[in-house]
Amino acid sequence: MLNPDSEITQHSALGPLAPREAILDIQPHEKTPNGRRNKLRMDLNENTVGAPPHVLDFFRRYLTAADLTIYPDYDHALEELSLHFSVDIDELTLTNGTEEAIQLVANTYVDEGEEVLLLCPSYAAYRFYSQLAGARIHEIDYSPGFEFPLEKLLDRIGPPTRALFIGNPNNPTGTVIDTPAIERVLSKAADTAVLIDEAYYEFSGITALPLIARHPNLFVSRTFSKAYGLAALRCGCLFSTAENMAHIRKAQSPYSVNSLAVMAARIAIKDPKFIEDYVLEVLAARELLYVGLERLNIPYIKSRANFVLFQVGARCLEIHDRLRDRGILVRDCSHDIAGHLRLTLGTRDQVERFLDELKQIW
Ligand SMILES: Cc1ncc(COP(=O)(O)O)c(C=O)c1O
Repeated sequence: MLNPDSEITQHSALGPLAPREAILDIQPHEKTPNGRRNKLRMDLNENTVGAPPHVLDFFRRYLTAADLTIYPDYDHALEELSLHFSVDIDELTLTNGTEEAIQLVANTYVDEGEEVLLLCPSYAAYRFYSQLAGARIHEIDYSPGFEFPLEKLLDRIGPPTRALFIGNPNNPTGTVIDTPAIERVLSKAADTAVLIDEAYYEFSGITALPLIARHPNLFVSRTFSKAYGLAALRCGCLFSTAENMAHIRKAQSPYSVNSLAVMAARIAIKDPKFIEDYVLEVLAARELLYVGLERLNIPYIKSRANFVLFQVGARCLEIHDRLRDRGILVRDCSHDIAGHLRLTLGTRDQVERFLDELKQIW
């Protein structure tokens, strides 16, 4: 019989363990930025004024030891959220942010070596979770003016396409695909899991959610990380037909969304005014930003989200760093689109502060 100890020694003597092939192909995550707390955070598309006060108030007043002791229970949340989103309770799965929704779609529908279609540039997590699933990724480029490459996408969708991820609005461009175009994609991609990521829905007002009844290949995700100001808690929702959701749930850890996140989401939807006011402020701030950028002759892309991509050219990194030194964080997108920065909005006051600082270094 083998002595287990000698076997262990033997393995470690051979060197480090080899991970799966898919892991070898993945680049390490970019280091998540630290020390952002006291800066003007116009870099990660969070809510820039903070979590809804009524959510904090609820935690301060009513959080009990039992709430932290007992494993999460989702029944009430599912009831209330399905009413809020006007879907059946079994058409909704709570997720640990949109990130988990993306991962669940990839893990449920894509086998090693199968094809996933992505748009480029788009949110990095689509590529990451597809790679993790071992997918063969094919990217379709946005046109130089960043219009949605609908015809190119329709041409490329075929029987091997197992999943397709579309951000609507898209990050980092802020551009959208309209509902008739989504329907064309869904009809062409009848055997493909199509995820429409609506992380910025509250700002765009465009949703594919009602299409679920007609398109059994459609998945829609929403999040509490952006307009709702709850990014730290990691809570999102994934929607599709009841049949699809049953498969998706098999791929999910039974407690992947924590109890505080669920509580916060339940409280957050009770006060739509907080969101409505914040969205109106952001939309006004976006107009102010456009005017400011035009005055400086800085080209930008019209956005339907709470962020704007603009072109500063070769000084991209320098401007990014000098703004950071002045306490303003913006996103350097030059690795995806040369010479471009992305700015998260922001109240009008915050955008004015940004424009004042930008003028001084421009
Ligand atoms: C398009 C898009 N989807 C999803 C996310 C992440 O959302 P969550 O915090 O819900 O995982 C982001 C974050 O930047 C995003 O831009």
